[in-house]
Amino acid sequence: MKGIILAGGMGSRLLPITSACSKQLLPIYDKPIIYYPLSTLMNMGVQEILCITRADNLDAFSNLLRDGSQWGIDIQYTIQDKPTGIAEAFLIGEKFIGEDSVTLILGDNIFYGASVTAFSQKGDKFLSGARVFAYQVPDPERYGVIEFSRDGKAISIEEKPVQPKSNYVVTGLYVYDNSVIEKAKSLKPSARGELEISDINQSYLEESKLEVLILDEGNTWFDAGTADSLILASQFVQSVQKRQSTMVGCPEETALK
Ligand code: G1P
Repeated sequence: MKGIILAGGMGSRLLPITSACSKQLLPIYDKPIIYYPLSTLMNMGVQEILCITRADNLDAFSNLLRDGSQWGIDIQYTIQDKPTGIAEAFLIGEKFIGEDSVTLILGDNIFYGASVTAFSQKGDKFLSGARVFAYQVPDPERYGVIEFSRDGKAISIEEKPVQPKSNYVVTGLYVYDNSVIEKAKSLKPSARGELEISDINQSYLEESKLEVLILDEGNTWFDAGTADSLILASQFVQSVQKRQSTMVGCPEETALK
C-alpha cells in the first residue's frame, strides 16, 4: 500500500495567512498541520509516502519532513502545478503508485480516534475497490455528501450539493485499488474546473465497489481549511494532550509505536 498526502491548493479561505505560507505548514496547537495526516498514514501502516505540494512550497515541506528515514518511513516529493482537483493526485502519482493500491489523505485533514486505525488493520486485507470514511457534520454542503437508502446503503455521492441528501460527508481519507489511476484518467473537469474525488467515489459506487465506513461519536475529524477550524482543532489537540497525557499527530510517537 502506497500513501499520498496532497498538500497543494491556494488556501484561499485562509488568506492573507496563506499568501506567504502553505496552509499545511500552519500550526494546529504545537505542530504543523501536515504532521497530523502524516501520522494517520503511519498509524495505518503506510510506509512509502508521496507528498504533493505547490512548486513554491516544496523546499519548505522537504526541510520539515526530510526523507522520512528519521521516522522509519520513506517520503518523496512532487509538484502539483495548479489546483486542478484532488483526483489529479493519481495522475501526478501514477509512477509512484506503480502496481500498488493507494491511500490518499488530504494535507489539512485531522483524524482522532481508534476507528481509522482499526479499519486500516482490516485494511491489511484490502484487495480491491475503494474505502472511504464518513462523518456527520452540521454543514454538509461544504463537502462530498453521501446519500443513503432506507437500509443504510450508500446510493450516491455529490460534491458540495446545494441541497444535501444527508449530513454524512466523505472525509479526506481514501483507500483505492490500482484501478483508481485509470478512473482518474477518464475524468472530465467539473463545473468548478476540477477533477473531483467525488466523481471517482461515485464511479466505484456504481460498480458496487465502494465501502463507506462511518466514523462514530468516538472519533473526531477536522478539515483545517478555515480560521475557525484552525482554532477549534488547536483547542481540541491541546485538551486531549493535556488531559490524557498523550500526543496527537506526532510522527515520533507513531514511529516508536
Ligand atoms: C474536498 C473534497 C470533498 C471532501 C473534503 C474533505 O473538499 O472535494 O469531497 O468532503 O475535501 O475535506 P475541498 O477541499 O475541495 O473543499
